Amino acid sequence: MTDTPAIEARRLCAAYHRQPVLTDITLALPAGQWTAIVGPNGAGKSSLLKVVTGSLQPLSGELRILGGSANQQRRAGKIAYMAQQEQMEWDFPVSVRETVMTGRYGLMRQDPWWQRLMPDHWANPAHRRAVEEALEAVDMRDHAAGPIGELSGGQKKRVMLARALAQQADILLLDEPLAGVDPPSERLILDMLERERRAGRTIIMVTHDLPSARRHADQVALINQTLVGMGPPAEMLSDAMLAQLAVGVAPRSTAGGVRAAA
Ligand SMILES: Nc1ncnc2c1ncn2[C@@H]1O[C@H](COP(=O)(O)OP(=O)(O)OP(=O)(O)O)[C@@H](O)[C@H]1O
Ligand SMILES: [Mg+2]
Repeated sequence: MTDTPAIEARRLCAAYHRQPVLTDITLALPAGQWTAIVGPNGAGKSSLLKVVTGSLQPLSGELRILGGSANQQRRAGKIAYMAQQEQMEWDFPVSVRETVMTGRYGLMRQDPWWQRLMPDHWANPAHRRAVEEALEAVDMRDHAAGPIGELSGGQKKRVMLARALAQQADILLLDEPLAGVDPPSERLILDMLERERRAGRTIIMVTHDLPSARRHADQVALINQTLVGMGPPAEMLSDAMLAQLAVGVAPRSTAGGVRAAA
C-alpha cells in the first residue's frame, strides 16, 4: 500500500446551472482501502463521483488521482465506474458478455493496430479472460450468452458491476452497488469487493446500506454538499454524527487525519 491517496480533493466546488451541489470539499481517500460515501438523498454523492470521472467539471478546487493529474490517470485507465443509473439501452439486442466486454473498449485502444484488425477470437486474449473472470465474480456466467433485455433489475446491476470489474482498474468507483439487490446477491457483491480490496484495489462505494458500510469499509466519508466528516465507520456512523449529517453540518476535524471542510 502506498501513502499517495487514491483520490485527493482540495477545496472542490461544483454546481449544476449555478446551483451549488458540492461546496469546499477537501478530502483524501486512501489507496488500497475501502471507503464508503454516505449522505442523504440529494447530498451530492453521485455528483462527487462524477467530478472524479470527469463527467462533471468542478467550478474550482483541485483534484488529483493517485498523485497525478486527474485527466492523465483517467486516460491511463486507473478508474472504473459504475453509475447509480446506467444510461443503457436495455432493449438493444446485445448479450451479457458483449455488454461486459464494453468495459474493455478503452483498454483495447492500447492494443497494437494489427491486433485490433484481427477477428474477435484472435484478438488480445487478456480482454476475453478479464470478461470471463468478471462474469464469474458476479455469478453471471450462466447468463453470459443471453440478451441483456431479459435480465431482472438485480441481475442488471451485477452485469454493470462486472463491466466495471473487467476494466481491472486500480480504483473502483461504485454508486450504490447494493441498491435493489437481494440478500444473496448483496453477499456475493460484498465478498467480491473484499477480494478486490485484498488484491490491492481501492474501493469507493456510495451507499445507503449502513450495516454493510459498518462491516466492510475502512473509513466512511459523510457528505452533505460539503464534507461533514471522515473517519472510522464506528465513529462516523454513530447516532450523533448521523444527526449532524442530516443537517449538513461540518464539525471540527475528525479521526483519520483528514480535515473536515470548514
Ligand atoms: N444533471 C443534473 N442537472 C441538474 N441538477 C442535478 C443534476 N444531477 C443532480 N442534480 C442535483 O444535484 C443535487 C445532488 O444530486 P446527486 O445525484 O449528486 O445526489 P446524491 O447524493 O447522489 O443523491 P441520492 O442519494 O438520491 O442518489 C440534487 O439536488 C440534484 O437534484
Ligand atoms: Mg446518487
